[in-house]
Amino acid sequence: MLRLRQLSFANNFCVIVASAFAAAAVMPTIALAASPESIAVGQQLFEQDWSPQNPELTGKDGLGPLFNGRSCVVCHNQGGTGGGGSAEFNALTVGIHEMHVVAKNLTEDVVEQAVCGFHPGFIDPKSGLVNSFALSHRGGSSAMEYSREKFRGQTAAVFSETGGPVSAAEVRLANATPILYQSNNGGVQTTINARLFQRNTTALFGAGLIDLVTTKQLRDIERAQKSHPEISGRLATLSGGDVGKFGWRGDVKDLLHFCERACAGELGLQSRRLKQPVDPTNSQYRNPSHDVTDAQLKSIAAFIASLPTPVRQLPSDSDRRQLASHGESLFASIGCAVCHQPNMGPAVGVYSDLLLHDMGKNLYDLNPADPYISRLTPVSQYDLRKVSEMELTTGFSGQGSTGNARYGGQSSMAFGSASGSFPTRGFRAFPVNHFPSPHQEGVSLMPGKFRFIAPTSPLSLMQIVSLGEETLNLENLNVKLSSGDSSKNTKIVESKRLRIHIEPTRFNQEWRTPPLWGVNDSAPYMHDGRAETLLEAITMHEGESKGTRDRFMQLSLQDRKAIIEFLQTLVAPPNAPQPKS
Ligand code: HEC
Ligand code: HEC
Repeated sequence: MLRLRQLSFANNFCVIVASAFAAAAVMPTIALAASPESIAVGQQLFEQDWSPQNPELTGKDGLGPLFNGRSCVVCHNQGGTGGGGSAEFNALTVGIHEMHVVAKNLTEDVVEQAVCGFHPGFIDPKSGLVNSFALSHRGGSSAMEYSREKFRGQTAAVFSETGGPVSAAEVRLANATPILYQSNNGGVQTTINARLFQRNTTALFGAGLIDLVTTKQLRDIERAQKSHPEISGRLATLSGGDVGKFGWRGDVKDLLHFCERACAGELGLQSRRLKQPVDPTNSQYRNPSHDVTDAQLKSIAAFIASLPTPVRQLPSDSDRRQLASHGESLFASIGCAVCHQPNMGPAVGVYSDLLLHDMGKNLYDLNPADPYISRLTPVSQYDLRKVSEMELTTGFSGQGSTGNARYGGQSSMAFGSASGSFPTRGFRAFPVNHFPSPHQEGVSLMPGKFRFIAPTSPLSLMQIVSLGEETLNLENLNVKLSSGDSSKNTKIVESKRLRIHIEPTRFNQEWRTPPLWGVNDSAPYMHDGRAETLLEAITMHEGESKGTRDRFMQLSLQDRKAIIEFLQTLVAPPNAPQPKS
């Protein structure tokens, strides 16, 4: 069997059994700082059924108008309050992969109407036409309800009463079969290929300890993995320089922020900062106030942080116990533990590095991780005559981290030279899922035809960077201008303009390593719940984990069983509060 050079990764491995139990005693500060009363309020808010309110009477609208569930616990309940949830509670996103519109007089309005005929959710009241939107399970006007049902009727998968697909098999089916929409209305021919993307409910046991993991710890692991032959995780960098630790894409920095996002996104409970989703068929409607206060959000987060941590439960049968222990060593020796790190500081027994990894194209999805530039190469100094050619080669641009860029947004040039707004911190790139305008200079297509194809891998971009003398620190950008030649540095700064070749990471394929603690009680698996069993989940590992997966496949049947047996010892805490039925 191939052994990896992983001395630096394997050495913290032998302590887990003892310390996984010890971890239950560590009380995260967020919970410690909260009074028992506040935690009790948090539990009540987490478990209660919210209902819509009449804003004219109460000053706020409560649940909805769009929502995925009436309570947090309706989704988070496997193994107790705060656990994971089955595929029927999957959060859904619809994304357009490919679209063709043909019309005599093609304007942006015509394209907008064409997409709206498929689903009005593609109109974002703030930013115009987008190529993906969150499909709420419930709520909204009757027009919204109609579109939702019509849409569900067009997919091959069977949906549950609750809103999501009924099982992991239906998740796979929805993934495998794109949704085809065709219409020919008033001389406008529209063909749309869309896909349903999903997020499986994660268990929250131990989330308070993950909250305590520091950026330095993540950075240290990131650095250690740089010398690994196969695996190179990266920090989930967010706008504003934060680092994400929560969510399948690692796109939320801490527990409190996730709770705020869940209140707004899952229940339609608006906070002071985060608006509830807008019903696109009733976009004028505004909630006059917010539905949850900051104190309530803190209580919810404190309650989650106070939940017990998952534990190890060894089989009582001694043969099986031995098998599990053998599986644990194999888990480390074939490389699983490089990403699924047993311990992360206070999160003892977490089995995750909390970093993002490219998991291969089968796990692609249109809601990207926050894009990140993996490499920047200065190509040449800015040359005015090349401008029109640049517009052609770029083709895509956008801004923000919403995952949805604008249709008809600025031309590609805007992201570089004109604004000079090059991100000097965090190396973030830009989402590529966006509709170029049919009339965009350079990328505009034949008159009367609009074509959009979502890229399945990041394009390398060309960008013209304005070097405001003090803004761009080349050293920070890791730009290699022939080794340490400071005179060259100076020259470029003097000319103030530089063409740069950007290679973003494959941010549509990057996923945060999910913690495996409690994994025995959180089926189905993977970001969208496409895997029914642990074995299935392992076989779906590709990209950076392909080598490890292949070594797993080459093990004897008995050894593979041993790894599964080991994973089955990672269970939900036995003392989690039980949801009232
Ligand atoms: C419709 C089902 C549903 C409801 C209702 C729901 N969640 Fe979730 N929850 C999810 C899904 C799906 C994820 C994974 C989302 C992701 O990673 O992008 C998640 C993830 C989370 C996470 C992040 C866990 C991690 O380790 O990354 C937290 C915290 C959370 N939910 C809290 C809440 C709170 C608080 C509520 C109630 C206000 C709530 N959720 C309501 C489905 C739900
Ligand atoms: C390169 C890093 C990496 C390696 C190596 C790796 N994994 Fe994973 N693992 C991940 C990521 C990332 C996911 C989530 C992918 C997704 O959701 O689409 C995952 C998901 C899982 C899941 C599903 C967890 C859940 O809650 O859905 C299991 C089980 C798992 N891995 C076990 C293993 C085992 C066993 C090995 C060794 C054979 C292994 N992994 C090797 C990164 C890795």
